[in-house]
Amino acid sequence: MTNAAASPIVELDFSDWAAPAGVPEKQAEWTAALEAGQVLYFPHLSLPLSPPEQALLREDMLKAGSRNVSLGSDGVLKHAAGTPEEQKLLAAMLGRYRQLALTLADGLFPHYRGALRVAPTSFRPKQVETRAQSVHADDRRMHFDAFATRPTYGERILRIFTNLNPNGAPRVWRVGEPFETVAKRYLPKIPPYSPLKAKLLNMVGATKSVRSEYDHLMFNLHNLMKEDEQYQQNGTVATQPFPPNCVWVCYADGAAHGVASGQYMMEQTLHLPPGRELHPENSPLAILTRLMGHPLAGVGTAQTR
Ligand code: SIN
Ligand code: FE
Repeated sequence: MTNAAASPIVELDFSDWAAPAGVPEKQAEWTAALEAGQVLYFPHLSLPLSPPEQALLREDMLKAGSRNVSLGSDGVLKHAAGTPEEQKLLAAMLGRYRQLALTLADGLFPHYRGALRVAPTSFRPKQVETRAQSVHADDRRMHFDAFATRPTYGERILRIFTNLNPNGAPRVWRVGEPFETVAKRYLPKIPPYSPLKAKLLNMVGATKSVRSEYDHLMFNLHNLMKEDEQYQQNGTVATQPFPPNCVWVCYADGAAHGVASGQYMMEQTLHLPPGRELHPENSPLAILTRLMGHPLAGVGTAQTR
């Protein structure tokens, strides 16, 4: 395993998605690394594809105007193009990936057992380099994940990725400094939280529920990072090519990341309730609460949920 202090990437050798479950003495270490904002990298894990599934690795499997194809936890496929047969095959492929991702998470992080909420599984067939996007939507720019319209109230965003590229192209990621280092830099630039403004944003439909102070901070942090050209130039700690047929796992809200290049990725999101971490003191919610010096308004309260 890579030295935690030296690299934000922790490489693990497993070639079977269920294998981490057999190494219980390491699970606390992997969970701690994940929670500290490191990226767990599995060069020998992959989603094997049949020839008809390989044929779905096309940009035109995505409905025009959509970002990703997704399979909901209800099994419904969204934003897919292609024939009904192709869509059926793609849904099954996403479903198979979801099962493998859940098996992996269960073996790596047994502390989270029974607490993870399964979010949609996504297929991202677009070429990263040529995707035209606004500064705030551009995931090539380093950021922590924060959703403009969907407050999380501190719920964690755990993501399990695989590169499916059939042409040998890696998915290249840039990974940045620890959450606290970055947050300290931008917190002074974030306007104070206004509960009134948060309510108004919700009333006009700009958010799906009332944005908490935590979500206000995360949303602004995300935007300030992406807007800052100097940070985008200098904030990279590691550049990591993820070759085809590998897997990587991180907390996308706690590990600064940007994607430099690549095409055809699958991703499973899992949510963990706030405070349910093995080391909750390392979470973005705990760090922001400490840095602000007060409990963050609206987090976990009934009126905002
Ligand atoms: C992200 O920034 O969450 C997505 C990165 C990627 O597309 O590889
Ligand atoms: Fe992201």
